[in-house]
Amino acid sequence: MSSQPIANQPPTQDELDLLNYQSRIERPVKMKIPELERNERLRHVIFSGQFTVDMLEDLADTADKIRVLSKSRSGQDFLLSLLHHKRAMLYFTQPSTRTFLSFMAACQILGITCNEVRDPTTSSETKGETRFDSLRMFSSYFDLIIMRSKLAKLAESCAYLMNDLESSGNRSVPIINAGSGADQHPTQALLDIYTLQRSFQFAEGKTSTVATRFEELRRNYPELSKGLTNKVYGFCGDIGRGRTVRSLASLLSKYEGVTLIFIAPNDPTLALRDDLRKLLLDRGVKTLEVESFDDSVDGVPVIESLDALYMTRIQKEHNAPGDAEKFATIDLSRYKLTANLVARMKKYAPILHPFPRDQHFGEIPPEIDDDPRAMYFRQARNGMWIRSALLASVFGVDHQIARFFHDEYSEWHHYNEDAASASTA
Ligand code: CP
Repeated sequence: MSSQPIANQPPTQDELDLLNYQSRIERPVKMKIPELERNERLRHVIFSGQFTVDMLEDLADTADKIRVLSKSRSGQDFLLSLLHHKRAMLYFTQPSTRTFLSFMAACQILGITCNEVRDPTTSSETKGETRFDSLRMFSSYFDLIIMRSKLAKLAESCAYLMNDLESSGNRSVPIINAGSGADQHPTQALLDIYTLQRSFQFAEGKTSTVATRFEELRRNYPELSKGLTNKVYGFCGDIGRGRTVRSLASLLSKYEGVTLIFIAPNDPTLALRDDLRKLLLDRGVKTLEVESFDDSVDGVPVIESLDALYMTRIQKEHNAPGDAEKFATIDLSRYKLTANLVARMKKYAPILHPFPRDQHFGEIPPEIDDDPRAMYFRQARNGMWIRSALLASVFGVDHQIARFFHDEYSEWHHYNEDAASASTA
């Protein structure tokens, strides 16, 4: 935890509050998961490790239904009616564009009213109020708290605070972690997985049907299968400090037969961290670390072996004193994508990036944006759908969505079938 008391100074109440949860935080994730659920349903969303492959499939299915329903007026009205009695607090004290806006849009799709605190200098924290008192106040007025903080483990501590309030008969609401320090960004991992699920259905492409596109690809890639299993995933750039990499790699490790390749400088700040490497190896995941797209794995250059590539930016804002000088001695140009590298990738391999990309560093230059494999803008929009699905799941209305979808679309299907058979009769 980053909030340690400074030597020779009495700890602040904020620091004591966080230290209070230290022993619970230090437990293995497996032990914590039951506390984050109620009646076999997610209550607090804190780690990507809370999600099983089945849960990811269910969320993707709900997200697909929401995106289809959102295309019609009747579908929109139905979605809006689901949670119009709920209010959400978006407590984002660390900058955000996509996560904040897509959560807000997701709330709006389901009829949830939103409010926000983004700048703590506008809150009574400036008068000495502790974060936990602030959180407890939010829980008095709202039904859900979605929070981003630069403090690692703050969201997790807040989930325990809510559980303790619940145990003592007080009002308590779900917490969703929208990014906590360098630690976890579980809902980013959800949208990354959703983007990969959609990519590996091979259903995209306006000029060919699903079947023909997949069969066309299989002519060149006979080993290709649908779905996320048995694929090679590359992560490039600032692996060590990327919370999105940590969360996504942890989720991918749950799929059979995956290989994860980390392409990063051999530097303790930027390379794969010991804890993530250990987690992957303990789960039996084939985990490789290379310094360049041209390094060879099983006799093939990495760039040519990938089924999907996850680019990241170098997170300068987390530089410690001396990092900038140290990084100036590393050839970081090797961690930028170029049109030449993209030309060597597999024809179907999606390119993802959590965004923002860094215009000054240029890890993905804009000339790649028109390549059909460039998924990052669609990936960001997918965030809105999968976060809607997550909210529907947390509030237990996902089954209503499935029922409405079935009724609406089976009727539509029958009507069209009847119309088709009438016209051919
Ligand atoms: N990917 C992501 O978390 O973006 P924002 O920082 O803009 O929310």
